[in-house]
Amino acid sequence: MGVRRLIAGMKISVDGKVEGPEGTADWVEAWSEDYGLMPQIDACVLGGGMYPGYERYWTSIRDEPDKPAWITGGAPTAAEIEWARFATQTPHFVLSRTLTSVQWPNTSIVQELEELAALKRRPGKDIYLVGGARTAASLMDAGLVDELRLLVYPLAAGSGKALFATTERRRGLELREVQRLPKGRVSLIYNVG
Ligand SMILES: NC(=O)c1ccc[n+]([C@@H]2O[C@H](COP(=O)([O-])OP(=O)(O)OC[C@H]3O[C@@H](n4cnc5c(N)ncnc54)[C@H](OP(=O)(O)O)[C@@H]3O)[C@@H](O)[C@H]2O)c1
Repeated sequence: MGVRRLIAGMKISVDGKVEGPEGTADWVEAWSEDYGLMPQIDACVLGGGMYPGYERYWTSIRDEPDKPAWITGGAPTAAEIEWARFATQTPHFVLSRTLTSVQWPNTSIVQELEELAALKRRPGKDIYLVGGARTAASLMDAGLVDELRLLVYPLAAGSGKALFATTERRRGLELREVQRLPKGRVSLIYNVG
């Protein structure tokens, strides 16, 4: 039986930042799952750093879809409401040694990378690595990430958190797909060797 693929999806600036100096990527208009992953995944992995913001953001969109969304300040988009619904039914795994409780449904805390390696060996669909930066870097270093999907936004963010700032190992990527998107964005899909 094959091992499930772990697919990281991140929205970055041209200079590789996942957020600006204020701690948010204010150039991202909506935090919907824009990588086309929903049909092929049945689990999500997140880092303990991003989890509290994720829980707050998606809880408010799920419970009050008519209110402006925290972070973007705009009305939740149809795709965000769809993700809130999908994510409510999809098991989430949060990598953390310090978090002790989580409110999002079907969510478990995992402390060791080996638990994620074991999750990949269980039968199922692919797994979406939602972020954040340090978690994506550490799972890449551990050889657990199989695919990287980047949405590149047309700006140089300057200071801020870089996606692979904490990566310890050089790793070659195989470009599989490039797509030009509206508003100057580019979608890049890489296989991770
Ligand atoms: N642009 C995007 O697409 C995007 C997507 C997602 C997130 N983000 C941004 O990313 C930011 C969060 O990123 P971040 O790098 O600060 O935090 P993070 O990657 O979400 O979480 C880091 C935490 O995860 C746990 N962790 C990571 N690797 C581990 C390992 N090998 N073993 C055990 N635990 C491990 C640790 O938690 P403990 O300290 O609790 O043990 C660590 O402090 C958010 O603010 C958000 O803005 C951006």
